[in-house]
Amino acid sequence: MQHDGSIVAFQQKRGGDSAAFFVPFLTSDMVLLDAGCGPGTIAAALAAIVGTAVGVDIEPNAIAMAYRLASYSGLTNLAFIEADMAALPFENEAFDAVFSHAVLYHQRRAALTRALAEARRVLKPGGVIGTRDADVGGNILHPELE
Ligand SMILES: C[S@@+](CC[C@H](N)C(=O)[O-])C[C@H]1O[C@@H](n2cnc3c(N)ncnc32)[C@H](O)[C@@H]1O
Repeated sequence: MQHDGSIVAFQQKRGGDSAAFFVPFLTSDMVLLDAGCGPGTIAAALAAIVGTAVGVDIEPNAIAMAYRLASYSGLTNLAFIEADMAALPFENEAFDAVFSHAVLYHQRRAALTRALAEARRVLKPGGVIGTRDADVGGNILHPELE
């Protein structure tokens, strides 16, 4: 896929829409983790708001796409790492905010429990966690977009 400035801006906009409910909880001095970042669109959008954004994904192809997006975005406070969100390669209390979009509902119970424990472990006391997932059975998205 060809990337230019307008495509990067469009992808960041879409990413920002998915995380709109979380933005009021974020500040410019925060270090944020996007767990299960996929192609990195949400992390890229949130990097424009926080101090540093780090995306992790278990899929090498997703991380490769995220690298490309980071490179074309010109953002210098954005990093991507291939990792399992159920075994994060970070110190305890490394992040002020942990975000996850359309990831947790893919996890089986044991993996979900580990992923949530990891999110808690890497979060500073007083930090914020935001997740957004589809309720496939009811076809409900929550929170709603504005
Ligand atoms: C539906 S996509 C959502 C991507 C992105 N959060 C978004 O909303 O654009 C789910 C992503 O979660 C990733 N994923 C699933 N299980 C994971 C795990 N245990 N650790 C890290 N990433 C995981 C997948 O590789 C995939 O990229």
